[in-house]
Amino acid sequence: HKSLTIGLFGFGVVGEGLYKVLQQTPSLKASIKKVCIKNPGKKRNAPDALFTTDKDELLNDPEINVIVEVINESEPAFEIVSTALKNGKDVVSASKKMIAEHLPELLGLQKTTDRSFLYEAAACASIPVIRNLEEYYDNDLLHSIKAIVNGSTNFILTKMFEDKLDFQQALLLAQQLGFAESDPTLDVEGFDAANKWNFLLTHAYGIVIPPDALVFNGIQNIQAGDAIVAAEKHNDIKLVAQAKKLENGKVAAFVLPQFIKHDDHLAFVKNEYNGVVIESGFSDKQFFYGKGAGSFPTASAVLSDLSALRYQYKYEYKKLYHHKPNELTNDFYIRV
Ligand code: HSE
Repeated sequence: HKSLTIGLFGFGVVGEGLYKVLQQTPSLKASIKKVCIKNPGKKRNAPDALFTTDKDELLNDPEINVIVEVINESEPAFEIVSTALKNGKDVVSASKKMIAEHLPELLGLQKTTDRSFLYEAAACASIPVIRNLEEYYDNDLLHSIKAIVNGSTNFILTKMFEDKLDFQQALLLAQQLGFAESDPTLDVEGFDAANKWNFLLTHAYGIVIPPDALVFNGIQNIQAGDAIVAAEKHNDIKLVAQAKKLENGKVAAFVLPQFIKHDDHLAFVKNEYNGVVIESGFSDKQFFYGKGAGSFPTASAVLSDLSALRYQYKYEYKKLYHHKPNELTNDFYIRV
């Protein structure tokens, strides 16, 4: 096993979480050599000498063999990731927007550089969702996936409907707890969930689609009254990402608020938790459940990627490369 010398980009909710988690996991033999940040003026709970604003200090340091990139902005993140891969470093990222927007280039870079590029933290935080989706034998057997992939909106809906907070209070709380994006419209209007669904569909079905190909909506139009109507029918309202294999071989996929029956597995998913229900040939129904946002749950996924780098783990994209890839259809349906 090689030891990991990390250059970390970003010291927000996830970056700082990783810094703390690594202090409690010495057996991983992973240490952060330098952290690149945007704003040097901010007070941070780590020694000053750890920080720099010069990205080349990390990207050109031959001792640094892993770049962990957990910044907000998509384009700078892509620049960092692609340079790091080209410089021979393995990369772990949590930038879902960047991955959704650049997946074709990122697939190419993984082939030409032969480095590992892992991003388990980019979807469903603590749930190893990418690794699990990759394990299903064939996309023809993956009948459907129904999931809650955004913690903030699920938290807001739970707080609005169970604790009777209004939308703004619930959103503020989600921000304070470190669940929301720095631009929370990404959560509220469904962009974040759609971005995650974009690359999860690649691992599930071998489809690579442009970031705007998915039909999606967020929770911006949901009101307290909607929950009353839902409750009368023994339903909750959840923001659900869904994909279904159609008889013609295509995949229908979307992210939309839906009524969810109280006895549905997804009804158990409350607050910042995420959940994924998979129906697959021979295995029948499976349910993955865990925290989908927050500092330590997200850092835990980065930790698992780091530990996988010690044995040169790479995603297989086997539905994309080894099975017939599917096509996405814009036909969609809403189950009420
Ligand atoms: N804002 C995201 C969410 C963070 O609420 O799910 C985790 O990706």
